[in-house]
Amino acid sequence: MRTLLVTGGAGFIGSNFVHHVLEHSDARVVVLDALTYAASREALAGLPQGRVELVVGDVTDAALVDRLVGGLSGEDDAVVHFAAESHNDNSLNDPSPFISTNITGTFTLLEALCKHGVRFHHVSTDEVYGDLALDDPERFTETTPYRPSSPYSASKASADHLVRAWVRSFGVRATLSNCSNNYGPWQHVEKFIPRQVTNLLAGGRVKLYGSGANVRDWIHADDHSSAVLTILEKGRAGETYLVGADGERSNLEVVRLVLELMGRDPDDFDHVADRPGHDLRYAIDPTKLRTQLGWSPRFTSFEEGLARTIDWYAAHEDWWGPKKAAVEAAYATQGQ
Ligand code: NAD
Ligand code: DAU
Repeated sequence: MRTLLVTGGAGFIGSNFVHHVLEHSDARVVVLDALTYAASREALAGLPQGRVELVVGDVTDAALVDRLVGGLSGEDDAVVHFAAESHNDNSLNDPSPFISTNITGTFTLLEALCKHGVRFHHVSTDEVYGDLALDDPERFTETTPYRPSSPYSASKASADHLVRAWVRSFGVRATLSNCSNNYGPWQHVEKFIPRQVTNLLAGGRVKLYGSGANVRDWIHADDHSSAVLTILEKGRAGETYLVGADGERSNLEVVRLVLELMGRDPDDFDHVADRPGHDLRYAIDPTKLRTQLGWSPRFTSFEEGLARTIDWYAAHEDWWGPKKAAVEAAYATQGQ
């Protein structure tokens, strides 16, 4: 049976990917996760015994990573790398863990992959390309130059460059994907959509940074997972694939939609302090992934995906409730 080592597999998207793999392949999964504040053991609960193992550890631990990668077969097995510090606002307050996990962690994996000749998929973000003007007719493509803005996106860009260098110089068999903004179950309440939904569920108010003109390109996490598995199975080593679902919305539009779907007045929200260096617009052109690998998203209606996500948060207060007060207290110190 094929084994996939999934780093960050207890996080929002990593755990979604683990479920997806178990449903859509016969692979066995080993999760390597440090179980930081962003992880959820609960997201991995109820999975078939014997097919999933959780190893609690750090991707920067070279001895552990060497042992885990060395236990894989160079023929069929692969490492899928989700582990990261992932929140821009946190990277502005303390960049240090972003440098360690996102850059040194990727370097640590690459050294082990190189030594043991194992296939690799590196999960990255559209933020490495910087931002677009609101009226730019072009979207990001695989050839857009790198221009990251925040410590988070700069650390992800650094990791991408390391992967490409290890492909070219040492022959590592790696693919890369750069995806747009994900939404769905198990996303931490520090992020935009869960923050607003849980603010309303907890009797608080919606918080919009600045004017809300900033645009994000939303994709359901299930569709990100299916894209990563497609690339793993059909992608060409050395290639990058952009992942997106044509889901551009301004933050203002999203806030108004959340309020409407939750039966509130769409104009009943607070404008709060803007994020320093706030990227204006992200937008993905997913043509290569769609045409070369035949991938397409299942969630074609953002409104429907968002409504289902709101229902999920309403039913899972036991999971997000204990995290909520500390997140809001930290935002309050930033005027957000
Ligand atoms: P997340 O913050 O929800 O989860 C990250 C996971 O990595 C957590 O389980 C955490 O415990 C683990 N982790 C952190 N540091 C670690 C370390 N040193 N060693 C081992 N494990 C560690 O993140 P996410 O939103 O699920 O993002 C997953 C990946 O997808 C990241 O690489 C991110 O850059 C990328 N990505 C995210 C989005 C998005 O919208 N969330 C979009 C595109 C790409
Ligand atoms: O584009 C992919 C990226 O998307 C991923 O690489 C990141 O890991 C992921 O966190 C996400 O980054 P963003 O910074 O775009 O996501 P965030 O959820 O933090 O914010 C989305 C937008 O909403 C952004 O323009 C800031 C704004 N925002 C955010 C919060 C938390 C608000 O207006 N109010 C808020 O309370």
